Amino acid sequence: MEKKIVLIPGDGIGPEIVREAKAVLAHVAEKFGHTFSFTEIDMGGCSIDRYGEPLTDENLQKAKESDAVLLGAVGGNAETSPWYKLAPSLRPEAGLLKIRKELGLFANLRPAFLYPELAAACPLKPEQLANGFDLVIVRELTGGLYFGERHTEKVNSVETAVDTLVYTEPEIRRIAIKAFEAATKRRKSLISVDKANVLDTSRLWRRVMEEVGKDYPDVKLSHMLVDNAAMQLVYNPGQFDVIVTENTFGDILSDEASMVTGSIGMLPSASLNETKLGLYEPSHGSAPDIAGQDKANPLATILSAAMLLRYSFDMETEARAVESAVAAVLRDGYRTPDIYTEGTKKVGTREMGALVRER
Ligand code: NAI
Ligand code: MG
Repeated sequence: MEKKIVLIPGDGIGPEIVREAKAVLAHVAEKFGHTFSFTEIDMGGCSIDRYGEPLTDENLQKAKESDAVLLGAVGGNAETSPWYKLAPSLRPEAGLLKIRKELGLFANLRPAFLYPELAAACPLKPEQLANGFDLVIVRELTGGLYFGERHTEKVNSVETAVDTLVYTEPEIRRIAIKAFEAATKRRKSLISVDKANVLDTSRLWRRVMEEVGKDYPDVKLSHMLVDNAAMQLVYNPGQFDVIVTENTFGDILSDEASMVTGSIGMLPSASLNETKLGLYEPSHGSAPDIAGQDKANPLATILSAAMLLRYSFDMETEARAVESAVAAVLRDGYRTPDIYTEGTKKVGTREMGALVRER
């Protein structure tokens, strides 16, 4: 297959980790007989330095015309970097908000999984990890409380703040489809998380999930209230395969799930729209404290590249090849400094990338 990939190295460790993930993608193309073309664009602080804005329309256009976008991270040290003296709309993160909005990315997929080799860093008890865990949270990203109307006013001379939570049927339907599609690529179990005992939006959410579920008879759909889901994620994360939930609940639960793994530097993410075009990035930031020192862990970005192969290109075999290679490198005892423990072999960013490609 021929595919166009836009790379956004960004700031801090971004260029180092994207370089390794790009080399992995190029290696996959060679091994599996695909043609991937790569175009690099600036976004974030580096774009401010060059063009005076965090993402130019011309570069955005290149992303829109691609088949998939792979991002490192944007941003610098908020205390020392001159970028943070600019207006909010001109700071590095504004580039990220702009590309998310312009690509219409409404579905955010965040996996959380435990490599047996890294279990020592996981805060859960061994008996809770007997079966490990490997789950994906599908979060609705462009609706709900964070995008509803809001205001603060005096009502009967009492200061009163109002936020509104709105979901429409089509918004729920399209995220439901993404979640069921993700579940069909995995263990075919979907848990929809809501607060249907209280909220009308949750009752509509549940009804639409049930309706969409009729088109996916292979996927087992069940429902869980969000407060219970928060407990179950720490109590027994192994019970989950795919979780789908609205924006606010997803924000909180996906951060909770990533902490439970104990190694946030290992976690990839995907943001998808109605087409196959998606934006893939590690869950961590630009780590300015270790930039340029060959210390950054490239595995979250390499695993994001695997998600890109799976969700934008439908290349399941290729995606699994990358994921197995990462697992094999860890099994063989190689660690970047952030996940190093005594008795393992410490390697830098470049060597870690090369080891993955070798496997
Ligand atoms: P961070 O995730 O960049 O760093 C937190 C800590 O984790 C640091 O000690 C860092 O060295 C370490 N770390 C992160 N990724 C690592 C990796 N791959 N390998 C080894 N160690 C790693 O979060 P922080 O410090 O809060 O933010 C730094 C900058 O990144 C800020 O400007 C922030 O706005 C930006 N940021 C950007 C994101 C994005 O581009 N999507 C997401 C989160 C933060
Ligand atoms: Mg959050």
